[in-house]
Amino acid sequence: MPTKTIIEPFRIKSVEPIRWTTRKQREALLRAAHYNLFLLPADDVLIDLLTDSGTGAMSTHQWAAVMEGDESYAGSKSFERFRLSVQEIFGYKHVIPTHQGRAAERILFNVMCKHGDVVPNNTHFDTTRANVEFVGAEALDIPIAEARQPSLKLPFKGNMDVTALEEVIARVGRQRVPLVMLTVTNNSGGGQPVSMENAKAVSAVCRKHKIPLYFDACRFAENAYFIKLREMGYESETPKQIAQEMFALGDGCTMSAKKDGMANIGGFLCTNDEVLARQEKDLLILTEGYPTYGGLAGRDLEAIAVGVQESLEEDYLRYRIASTAYLGNHLSEAGVPIVEPPGGHAIYLDARAFLSHIPQPQFPGVALAAELYLEGGIRSVEIGTLMFADAAQMDLVRLAIPRRVYTQSHIDYVVEIILGVWKRREQIKGMHLTYEAPFLRHFTAHLEPVA
Ligand SMILES: Cc1ncc(COP(=O)(O)O)c(C=O)c1O
Repeated sequence: MPTKTIIEPFRIKSVEPIRWTTRKQREALLRAAHYNLFLLPADDVLIDLLTDSGTGAMSTHQWAAVMEGDESYAGSKSFERFRLSVQEIFGYKHVIPTHQGRAAERILFNVMCKHGDVVPNNTHFDTTRANVEFVGAEALDIPIAEARQPSLKLPFKGNMDVTALEEVIARVGRQRVPLVMLTVTNNSGGGQPVSMENAKAVSAVCRKHKIPLYFDACRFAENAYFIKLREMGYESETPKQIAQEMFALGDGCTMSAKKDGMANIGGFLCTNDEVLARQEKDLLILTEGYPTYGGLAGRDLEAIAVGVQESLEEDYLRYRIASTAYLGNHLSEAGVPIVEPPGGHAIYLDARAFLSHIPQPQFPGVALAAELYLEGGIRSVEIGTLMFADAAQMDLVRLAIPRRVYTQSHIDYVVEIILGVWKRREQIKGMHLTYEAPFLRHFTAHLEPVA
């Protein structure tokens, strides 16, 4: 008999203290960090919701596996365990380890794309976009139109617009589309899932035009669980079966194991294509390392081998999805504008609606993120005009929930702080840039409140 209260499906064996600061200290710290939360020392943050990437807590099984790490340069046992575990879920012929997701992206786009190409995706993540653009190709976002309406509640708002995909291929020509990507879940689009039906439709278009389909698989387990909960016909499938079915629709994937790999570092690139795999391994050797470790220690490969399987456990996924929704529901019930419905790994505040008096060029998302830090020591991240400049379709503040790290009382505190900021939102000022790097500027930008 299912209970109403969904508890954390773990006990805590080791604790890490977090540190309080005063508002006065936070004002000075924020000024010193040029109002960019990436530039804050983590020790000055109370609740760190900057990212769910690499910030999760590993399980006892993962720590035990770490001790089994085989650090041989070539052909280590750890690589074999990693390869078998990944292949059982993802099903692709070649598994190439990388130090994290963006390294897999860099290698993939270097091998598959050239200047003038177009890569369609439901929504490119920032590193994915940057890596596509770095080889001179265009990173084209074609989410369904409803994805651009934050308050609209739909079960699969991460879907790709399949008609737009057909139109892009017709407009630019098949030769200029070396691959199509599908990001599950759609991080930059609000952590929203992609349905199996949509993945099948995208795959069918790709097959028809003989274009390879690659998944950006970072949150594949969360996406699989949403399909189980929301898509007809999948109620009695396991998340693993659902993930296997989805990956069988594609030709490969990039993966950051820092998300649903439940590891603190790592990633991989998969492909079914022999020729590409050879080229990818050659590039890998140049910058990442030998193909049986690819920039990781044997112990990291062990942690990922266990982690990808743990991320598919139903007890864990039930808690994961419910605890993210808990934060979202408490905020939206109080009238705070968020991207609806709550996503898998994060809640996204709609900063344009939250701070409707701040115009888009004054970075409403940056202003809101700064205020959450001042009010309660919470670190979040802007996903909007600072991150994407003219390509920004929304101005969001993402509160990403690290896996298995914070308890319900931490989240209750986050709700209280956000509601406090919501009450005095009209006093918050916009920001202007004082320094920006030529690409991925949000990581290092300097800002100041407008006078
Ligand atoms: C959807 C998506 N793709 C790719 C990446 C890049 O992964 P990494 O940070 O491991 O390089 C991320 C990281 O947040 C992501 O969310």
